Amino acid sequence: MKLNIAVLPGDGVGPEVTREAVRVLRAVNDFCGYDFRFEESPIGGGASVEFGLPFPPHTRERVLNAGAVLLGAVGGPQFDSLTGERRPEAGLLALRQACGCFANLRPAICYESVANCSPLRPERVKGANIMIVRELLGGLYFGEPRAIDAAGKQAYNTMRYSEAEIERVARVAFELADRRKKTLVSVDKANVLETSRYWRQTVNRIAKDYPEVKLEHALVDSFAMNVITWPTRYDVVLTENLFGDILSDEASVIAGSLGMLPSASVGGKIDLYEPIHGSAPDIAGKGIANPIGAIGSAAMLLRHTTKLFAEADCVEAAIESVLKKGLRTADLLPPDQRSKACSTEEMGTRIAEATVEALNSRMAYHAV
Ligand code: NAD
Ligand code: IPM
Ligand code: MN
Repeated sequence: MKLNIAVLPGDGVGPEVTREAVRVLRAVNDFCGYDFRFEESPIGGGASVEFGLPFPPHTRERVLNAGAVLLGAVGGPQFDSLTGERRPEAGLLALRQACGCFANLRPAICYESVANCSPLRPERVKGANIMIVRELLGGLYFGEPRAIDAAGKQAYNTMRYSEAEIERVARVAFELADRRKKTLVSVDKANVLETSRYWRQTVNRIAKDYPEVKLEHALVDSFAMNVITWPTRYDVVLTENLFGDILSDEASVIAGSLGMLPSASVGGKIDLYEPIHGSAPDIAGKGIANPIGAIGSAAMLLRHTTKLFAEADCVEAAIESVLKKGLRTADLLPPDQRSKACSTEEMGTRIAEATVEALNSRMAYHAV
């Protein structure tokens, strides 16, 4: 198995968590004798300062020639003076556009051993396993026109969705729902927005091709309340770009911390994998960030891009087993217990070791 992975560590905690994801992928590679190659390239605020753009041409070139992309995070207050296309976040949007990945899968899973790490009641979050399918290349993020008026007295963005954009992401969500619990909630704001009414109409039409999937529509405001009130009620959730951004950070509370959630952006030329969190400027440089979102993204890479299902399962089992043994980064602990927290590196190393153990026992099982 040969794979060139473009590694884009980015800003803040990005490089810290990405290092651990690469450590785990290397462990899989070395154990299984694959040929994974890792090539680092700059992205984000640091790249913008050094090369004039947050997604410089040489990074684009690398990405377009890679088999998959592993990203850390971009941004931070030190880059606040950068404007327009020089902003770190503009680099991330350009990367997503270059990859063409329109479906962003954000699983929010509550592992049993960390159910008590959530500020929500453990009995409510235990067993929750929600797959958010966020549209990634449309809506307010990309709609034109957008501007702050020359006179500086008003600003506007445009929410726009074409039928084709809705249809392609809806099909990804229906396919997933069909393979999971056969329920799908499509979240919108159809009581107010034309784009949402059109979204609903289009999703209803696609639903006819998936008669076994039970489709429900929900308004985003009450859904935001319901999803943390009864997380176990939901399975696959489909929504547009901005709602998906907000709802997935909210859903991370179910998993115990924003640092826990991975993501896979698929459907385009190149698949992109990144934790859902940002550069976490408040903890950057301290070696305490939770790398599980990044490592989980590496597991998603193994599953979606390389179809190494068993290896992906082993990485996820390793995450679960290390948590079960009580290893916790600071974000998973209440403030008075943070002196017991492990570092980013320790968490990554233990997960890499547990992955090798899981791969080993799998081999032993298949040998008998
Ligand atoms: P953030 O996600 O960076 O952090 C929010 C809170 O969660 C912080 O308290 C942070 O310490 C904590 N946190 C985040 N990741 C963590 C981890 N792995 N382990 C432990 N704690 C973690 O959001 P923000 O502070 O609103 O944004 C900071 C910057 O990141 C902004 O410039 C923003 O644009 C950018 N951002 C980038 C991405 C991305 O690159 N994909 C995503 C979101 C935000
Ligand atoms: C995310 C981030 C990005 C988004 C920003 C940094 C462009 O919040 O990946 O969730 O809004 O998509
Ligand atoms: Mn976000």
